[in-house]
Amino acid sequence: MHLAILVAAVAISPVCSVSFNPLQHSGPASPYFDAPSQDGISPATPTGCVVDQAAYILRHGSRYPEPGSFTGWQALFTKFQNTSYTAKGPLAFIPSWVPPVDDIPHEPLFLSSTGALEAFSLGVDLRKRYQFTKGGENITVWSASQQRVLDTATFFTRGYLSQGNYLTTPSLNRGTIISLPDSVNFTFANSLTPSTGCPTYSTGDTSAVTSTAFRATYQSAIAARLNKFLDGLTLDATDIGVMQDLCGFQTEISGDTRFCHVFEDSEWLDYEYADDLNYYYGSGPGNPFSATVGFPWVKAISDLFALGPGETTPGGNITPPALIMGFTHDNNLPPVISALGLWNTSHEPGVYPLSLTMPNSQRQFRSSYVVAFRGYIALERLKCSATSDEETVVHVAGAAPANVSTSKYVRVRVDHAPVAIPGCTSGPGSTCPLEQFTTYIDTTRATAAGDFVQRCGLQRVVNATGEVTFLTVAPPDIQELLVGLN
Ligand SMILES: *[C@@H]1O[C@H](CO)[C@@H](O)[C@H](O)[C@H]1NC(C)=O
Ligand SMILES: *[C@@H]1O[C@H](CO)[C@@H](O)[C@H](O)[C@H]1NC(C)=O
Ligand SMILES: *[C@@H]1O[C@H](CO)[C@@H](O)[C@H](O)[C@H]1NC(C)=O
Ligand SMILES: *[C@@H]1O[C@H](CO)[C@@H](O)[C@H](O)[C@H]1NC(C)=O
Ligand SMILES: *[C@@H]1O[C@H](CO)[C@@H](O)[C@H](O)[C@H]1NC(C)=O
Ligand SMILES: *[C@@H]1O[C@H](CO)[C@@H](O)[C@H](O)[C@H]1NC(C)=O
Repeated sequence: MHLAILVAAVAISPVCSVSFNPLQHSGPASPYFDAPSQDGISPATPTGCVVDQAAYILRHGSRYPEPGSFTGWQALFTKFQNTSYTAKGPLAFIPSWVPPVDDIPHEPLFLSSTGALEAFSLGVDLRKRYQFTKGGENITVWSASQQRVLDTATFFTRGYLSQGNYLTTPSLNRGTIISLPDSVNFTFANSLTPSTGCPTYSTGDTSAVTSTAFRATYQSAIAARLNKFLDGLTLDATDIGVMQDLCGFQTEISGDTRFCHVFEDSEWLDYEYADDLNYYYGSGPGNPFSATVGFPWVKAISDLFALGPGETTPGGNITPPALIMGFTHDNNLPPVISALGLWNTSHEPGVYPLSLTMPNSQRQFRSSYVVAFRGYIALERLKCSATSDEETVVHVAGAAPANVSTSKYVRVRVDHAPVAIPGCTSGPGSTCPLEQFTTYIDTTRATAAGDFVQRCGLQRVVNATGEVTFLTVAPPDIQELLVGLN
């Protein structure tokens, strides 16, 4: 009886409606979810193929607010408390709402429990997905050094390694995190935060203007609609921005989805588009220095894929594991999209560059599908056998398994969903033949990116570099953190 009531209550909740979930349209405030496959390619590894090498660059997991946005939450709370008013309908809860931060000196900026779970789960998922690591083997990962990023790397590594009993065997089943300086200007391209290593990049970032102008087109109308549910209190455009952010944030921090129910579907789509503009023109393909900044990591991975797992580049003193993990911040993911040439071309005319005023539903560039918390861009190298499903394979008792001829391919997955590489989809499951991929990177994409040192205006800067070498050459003064079970 009680259960039936509970089920009914859940079923009527708009957040649970299968048709529209605001948590999947909240851009960088979305807790992690698997993005839908926009290119219609199955996320499963194609039949006849195995992944033998993979590289991930990912945003840290869900977190508490930045201090700046937390100030906005506190101002909203004060506004809701410091006036006499009546509220009804979707706003009936606001007199009793309190911001979901209950330890102000320690929580803002840092990972939440949901963020820790997202990181741990990815570790579990990738251990199972690839089966690269035998029981007891160590793994090394790379991370930018802000605490929430390191914590994401740590929880990931715990999830990845956690199995068996190695408590008394400290030489086995250990994780090493190579911690790289975070958001500094002296490591240039050789960093997981190269956006701050390229001085011209900020001049190409027009996100503040473009997203602010778009928000101004819809926030006041939402405030006017909601003010009909209030008597004695008036919401303004600023309040709407904070309240929409609180859907994603409060859900991941405390599980409270009340702000998600306040807004209509079209209001969420406008909110999402403001974030799309923010990332497209800030760190993505609409910033002329975006591909420049993202290219060095892509080039380093392309070179390692050409060599294959268990190999290092000439002059390298580290052999990266088959699974190459890099932990960073939201703004360093769209540059990788740009460097790969994704989400910026369309058969439909007029989709790109994104319109400043009219969202086009044909666009593939969606902030929610890449910079959600713990969002990632993954490159996978696949080995596919020439045998098809229909072919009969003969095994002779006691004989070594016959060598099946294999070809190598690459595919990109963004928040789980495979994304087609433009002009290179002839392999199984729309994958790109490896040699064609490395040529695409070394020619078309290298040209689009340009030379990092030159385009970033670093020609006269001592030690400036346009290459990612940290994966294969241990940087000086490297900080290594150990992750173990004891
Ligand atoms: C509450 O409102 C009063 C009157 O508008 C104002 O003077 C006071 O500063 C407000 N208090 C806070 C904590 O915002
Ligand atoms: C694994 O890592 C531990 C801790 O750094 C180290 O002592 C050990 O030698 C490593 N084992 C292997 C097989 O690399
Ligand atoms: C790095 O930042 C410092 C401090 O703002 C500045 O003095 C220096 O010139 C910058 N270096 C480069 C290469 O931009
Ligand atoms: C994205 O497309 C726009 C419009 O065609 C173009 O100007 C821009 O250079 C492209 N960006 C990248 C990174 O390819
Ligand atoms: C398969 O390939 C390996 C390595 O190239 C070789 O040593 C082995 O003899 C081959 N086995 C068969 C059955 O051809
Ligand atoms: C350049 O690199 C060398 C070697 O790592 C270092 O000693 C020197 O301080 C660096 N110079 C600058 C200006 O960063």
